[in-house]
Amino acid sequence: MAGEPESGPGSNTETEPTPPIAAAIFGERLDLAEKYASILSEEGVLRGLIGPRELPQLWTRHLMNCAVLSEAIDEDLTVIDIGSGAGLPGIPLAIARPDLAITLIEPLLRRTTFLDEVVTELGLKNVTVVRGRAEEKAVLKAVQPADVVTSRAVAPLERLAKWSAPLIRGGGRLVALKGRSAADEIARDREKVSGFGIRDLTVEECGTMLETPTTLITGRRIESAKDARKARRAGRRG
Ligand SMILES: C[S@@+](CC[C@H](N)C(=O)[O-])C[C@H]1O[C@@H](n2cnc3c(N)ncnc32)[C@H](O)[C@@H]1O
Repeated sequence: MAGEPESGPGSNTETEPTPPIAAAIFGERLDLAEKYASILSEEGVLRGLIGPRELPQLWTRHLMNCAVLSEAIDEDLTVIDIGSGAGLPGIPLAIARPDLAITLIEPLLRRTTFLDEVVTELGLKNVTVVRGRAEEKAVLKAVQPADVVTSRAVAPLERLAKWSAPLIRGGGRLVALKGRSAADEIARDREKVSGFGIRDLTVEECGTMLETPTTLITGRRIESAKDARKARRAGRRG
């Protein structure tokens, strides 16, 4: 009946309280993670950047699942996060790992405005926001190839690798958050991804202390453009 509150599965939009395990993940920067959770659940929802139905799993499915990516990234590296949207995984990673220098690449103005505000409000000195598409010339000029390029829910592996490869330094890594499709995506796209200079594709799990650990596809960018051309020629012959 009109005016009655909705009920049934998925109708709960209460924000998940901070789970005790979040303290182990964010350490002494837990207060920043809580501030981000609060911005997401208020401004993020109001501006249509995150669905209200995500709020009951805001920590479990978003903040913590993204922050545990930290396990796959060594100290003091540069990271580019492609298609950050409302800041996932880049912002939780930047909160958990102040030693990383993180660039968030996102084409939509509405989203980059929000990201700039989050960075300012949280005082995240290790985060830069760049507006544009990962494959655009202007973006490629604006950023230095990074040690690690991350992404979540941006594109199927082949397209993701095509966009990510030029942004990864030789010897650097692709680290893509993926779901259950990870192994199938590798089987389907391995050859094409190799053509973009990304090899050694592997499915990894991090955050095994969480109820639902995070599944990653990782890969390594081969050393030079010359190597990449060689790899493409070898791919065509094979
Ligand atoms: C489904 S959203 C995922 C957002 C965020 N990564 C997350 O997991 O919540 C996909 C994001 O990728 C961005 N995007 C799409 N194509 C892109 C491209 N070529 N380069 C960079 N970002 C892109 C979109 O604007 C959008 O914010």
